[in-house]
Amino acid sequence: MAQELTKLAGGSFQRVFFANSGSEAIETAVKLAKKFQAARGRFGHSIAALENGYHGRSGIALALTGMNIYKTGLPGFSLYPGIVHLPVPRTGVVDLDELGRQLDARSQDDLLAVVAEPVLGVGGVIVPPDGFLRALRELCDARNALLIFDEIFTGLGRTGTTFAFERSGVRPDILVVGKPLGAGLPVGAVLTPDDLGSCWAPVDHSTTFGGNGALVGAVGKAVLGELTAGGLADASERAGNQLMDALRSAAPPDVEVRGQGLLIGLEWQSPDQAVAFRRQMMARGVLVGIGGQQRSVVRLTPPLNITAEDLKLLESTTLAVFDEVVRR
Ligand SMILES: Cc1ncc(COP(=O)(O)O)c(C=O)c1O
Repeated sequence: MAQELTKLAGGSFQRVFFANSGSEAIETAVKLAKKFQAARGRFGHSIAALENGYHGRSGIALALTGMNIYKTGLPGFSLYPGIVHLPVPRTGVVDLDELGRQLDARSQDDLLAVVAEPVLGVGGVIVPPDGFLRALRELCDARNALLIFDEIFTGLGRTGTTFAFERSGVRPDILVVGKPLGAGLPVGAVLTPDDLGSCWAPVDHSTTFGGNGALVGAVGKAVLGELTAGGLADASERAGNQLMDALRSAAPPDVEVRGQGLLIGLEWQSPDQAVAFRRQMMARGVLVGIGGQQRSVVRLTPPLNITAEDLKLLESTTLAVFDEVVRR
């Protein structure tokens, strides 16, 4: 599984650490970044993540998450020293200087790393404008900070390319994947280049069931094989474009349809509408998620190997429920 993952992710990654979940993989990536920076004599605390970003519900993963809804009633737990959040521009030309000013104004000391989802999933299916990931890369390079991409949601074909970062031409220093890798079994993975991966000794970090042994290794390898042999990233791109075109032409005027590949968001004007929409979809046997800062974005994330017939069913069900929710 490690070999297949590093092959898929391209040349710069040689090492993989396996964890039991996405959250644990994120915690590992941040711990590794801190250790690596400390070995270079950099003992600052600042790590930037994105507003609306989602990275899990454990300690550092929750602190990195830029969604207040998951932090209520947890003041001491959800604030980790040095973690700050940057706004994500929604449209237009990315202003690198302005982004740099915001980053420096918010950072409390030496910036160690930036953690970002290339497309923000749980936070409301936000596709940052072209140039945003490149700007993050440049800001990191100028500050000797590490760029960590959380591709737990977007990775392995979900957004129409094997990894979402591929569209930007920007590569991270650390890549984190999870979710579909185990096809339902628990696993997360942190990919690094040699110099990063070798900066800690085995004693520095471990977990009893990390990677969950031979079973998940075999499953993950099969998943990666199917992703490649089945052309699932391309299939996701095609199906996503087809579905988004159909939904855009029929969506009520106050619903925004956006996304990449088969990570599709429908932003409603209010959380009540999103909840009503989800209830009707569920009643018709279609599972959808709800996210976004206001919980007004419905997520459609069908399987990447969805058949043409099921894709049509998803489309017709969504259109029927559009009518129903708007008529209420
Ligand atoms: C982008 C992203 N990062 C991290 C996580 C956390 O992963 P897990 O739920 O496996 O701990 C998720 C889960 O939804 C996610 O979407």
